[in-house]
Amino acid sequence: MELKTIILAAGKGTRMKSETPKVLHKIMDKTLLGYVLDNVNEIADESFVIVGHQAEQVEEYVKKGYKKAKTILQTPQLGTGHAVSMVCPYLEEYTGQILILCGDTPLIREKTLKEFVEYHQKTESDITVMSTIFDNPTNYGRIIRENDNSIKCIVEEKDATVEQKSIKEVNAGIYCINWAKIKHVFTQLKPNNAQGEYYLTDIIEWGKSQGLKVNGYILDDNTEIYGINSRQNLAEATRMMNKRKLTELMENGVTIVDPSNTWISEDTEIGKDTIIYPSTYLEGKNKIGSNCKIGPFAHFRGDVEVADNVKIGNYVEVKKSKISSNTNAGHLSYIGDSEVGSHVNIGAGTITANFNPITNVKSKTTIKDNVKIGSNSVIVAPVCLDEGANIGAGSVITKDIKSWSLALTRSPLKIIENWIKH
Ligand code: UD1
Ligand code: CA
Repeated sequence: MELKTIILAAGKGTRMKSETPKVLHKIMDKTLLGYVLDNVNEIADESFVIVGHQAEQVEEYVKKGYKKAKTILQTPQLGTGHAVSMVCPYLEEYTGQILILCGDTPLIREKTLKEFVEYHQKTESDITVMSTIFDNPTNYGRIIRENDNSIKCIVEEKDATVEQKSIKEVNAGIYCINWAKIKHVFTQLKPNNAQGEYYLTDIIEWGKSQGLKVNGYILDDNTEIYGINSRQNLAEATRMMNKRKLTELMENGVTIVDPSNTWISEDTEIGKDTIIYPSTYLEGKNKIGSNCKIGPFAHFRGDVEVADNVKIGNYVEVKKSKISSNTNAGHLSYIGDSEVGSHVNIGAGTITANFNPITNVKSKTTIKDNVKIGSNSVIVAPVCLDEGANIGAGSVITKDIKSWSLALTRSPLKIIENWIKH
């Protein structure tokens, strides 16, 4: 099935009180918009991100990281229906389906979107709208159903009667539509409502009046559509996403010693029988093998790949590095832009100095198999420690070191006896 997506992200996000556009705020080092774009990457062949407030920043972000996505400017922002209508000039000939979702709901799962789209296809619907149930449905659009239980329309909180407000089934803000049939509605939407906006939700009633097939899909887990409007929401979404991730990891054979004090990004994969000790913070995209010991107090900053039987101990920070099996970095180290072999021992306090603050250049460190690095050493990149090299404690290494040789930059130990007279 041909599928494109529209992601609504033009809104202001006033309550974030931020110079950063709302959808570029981050959860575990990935933006809210990034979650949504990653989730549709596999199912859709193209995505349109509707931008408005602080558009340049969002445009730049999308351009840099997402080849299949395009941004479209919406100014002024006249409502969700108006936002979707912005793609019309780009899709005049398009005859496939369109998945519409919001850029500020990062908790929606890829699996849910797949099921939703499949349902839309299987039922041969023209419009499928996702709904869910909230005990407290305040602020959401309510789903109004006919006597035969089919969906009649969606009424926004601000337009709802007292009776309608008591309805607990709400519009999740996610739709799948048959573009060729629905695109005509966008010239017909009217802002006749309490907010004076062009409501996307009006396509339901319009579709029905045109004799189109309108269907609903009820989402069981209402936390998936949790939207971010404030810093409190951001913290809460981070907590929810983390809880979900830790549960999934534990179900797959990873020990999390203290789930209340461990943070692991959605994009971190961890193998069986690995133990994650408390206060560990793994952000960005990482891959950790089996039988590893990570933490306590370990920090991964993304693009980290760790093979099996690796130990990354307390106060060790790792960024953009690959570490092979049976290697240890037990204490107080920084490993960045590095490739580390297997059976390597990285002594306490070892630092890979990867950044030159004068040239602003980051360089790579290569540490081959069986290298042993003494404590408190600085390995200044670009540099290669060849197989089996041995670095004496306290050294500053600025040149490549040959296989199986010993390198040390330490000044010789001097002992002056009877220095202090008793
Ligand atoms: C919308 C739905 C509501 C649903 C809720 C789910 C409408 C009219 N209402 O309400 O039924 O329960 O989402 O979260 O659609 N946006 C634009 N351009 C605009 C206006 C909005 O891009 O001109 C974007 C916003 O940035 C946001 C999304 O659309 O990402 C939703 O807009 P918002 O104003 O938050 O709609 P709600 O009032 O939440
Ligand atoms: Ca909203």
